[in-house]
Amino acid sequence: MGWGWVGGAWTGRWLGRKVAGLGGGRLGAQPRSSAASLAQPPGAQSSPALRGELQGAACPFLHPASMASPMRSLMADLDRYVQSFRVFLEKSTEHQSMQEFVERHLPDLIASIGNGKSTINVLSVGGGAGEMDLQILSKIQARYPGVTINNDVIEPSADQISKYKERVAQASNLENIKFTWHKETANEYESRMNAEKKTKKWDFIHMIQMLYYVKDIPATIRYFHSLLESQAKLLIILVSGKSGWETLWKKYGPSFPLEDLCCYVSSADLPRMLDSAGLKYQLYELPSHMDITSCFSEGDKDGELLLDFLTETLEFAKTAPPELKRQVMEELRNPGCSEIRDGKVFFNNSLGVIVIEP
Ligand SMILES: C[S@@+](CC[C@H](N)C(=O)[O-])C[C@H]1O[C@@H](n2cnc3c(N)ncnc32)[C@H](O)[C@@H]1O
Repeated sequence: MGWGWVGGAWTGRWLGRKVAGLGGGRLGAQPRSSAASLAQPPGAQSSPALRGELQGAACPFLHPASMASPMRSLMADLDRYVQSFRVFLEKSTEHQSMQEFVERHLPDLIASIGNGKSTINVLSVGGGAGEMDLQILSKIQARYPGVTINNDVIEPSADQISKYKERVAQASNLENIKFTWHKETANEYESRMNAEKKTKKWDFIHMIQMLYYVKDIPATIRYFHSLLESQAKLLIILVSGKSGWETLWKKYGPSFPLEDLCCYVSSADLPRMLDSAGLKYQLYELPSHMDITSCFSEGDKDGELLLDFLTETLEFAKTAPPELKRQVMEELRNPGCSEIRDGKVFFNNSLGVIVIEP
């Protein structure tokens, strides 16, 4: 039996096709099946806004929560999530791969977004600490020198916003860019704009590695696509369907405590969603890898944080049942996930970029 979110309450009915068409990730979330599972673990710092959005997960392959498992979703502790994401960035070529894409392809993609405009409006959804946002902005500046850019950021993590602000404060050449941060989720932004009866349009919108965390992927894409100006683009980056993430999650996603997460989704899932919505898009594959060698050193702090990030599980090394941990560790070394070179284990972190036309 599957579980789903209907009209504000969890139901045990199978809702696999709820998001068919423009919708649905490959693996699904578990419901919050009891008051106990709603309680935050000690030290949890999760934003109510973020948790609220994540609780509304609408995914097609849902499975009941295992009440016996002590495992908790990493998203139940936003601070640890951000910590593990930072270790992931240090150990992977994630941002380098994206940067290469920005250098090679972005100039063509933004070639006409600002034609005839005195101001260019850019919306970053889940902008994190702004590393990629600033790269994108510098390309827009280079294409449209002297033009004012309004860069709005939707980001629910206070910590990420403060890192983003520090980065902006330390950067040079941002004079003609006006930054506005909205400490909220994508869903809250949409609700607020609807309540205020506003439909601000944008010349470039990007969602880089954030669609995993919305409650309804098709609806989110539909909403932000509806905000595009006539020459604009919507850029989405997700893990690739050919990555180790796909292999790991296809096999072990149902064993991870996804009660807080929406869907595991990869770039391979998007064409089906976009085709059924009649949207035009281009796809790019970006090679990337992550050194996960430290995951195999018992007690290594970075290794533990990486394992949390890989499994989206809070303290996976300490809370996973021994047999699951053994199998996951074995899977992580397998060729479907990783390559072993010079005694190091490199996880396949390849990425998929989808650029959607207005
Ligand atoms: C994997 S990080 C990616 C950050 C940045 N885009 C990058 O690639 O470096 C995901 C970001 O999305 C944010 N996020 C999580 N849930 C979100 C939601 N529902 N709406 C918008 N952003 C969200 C997180 O706080 C986090 O900063």
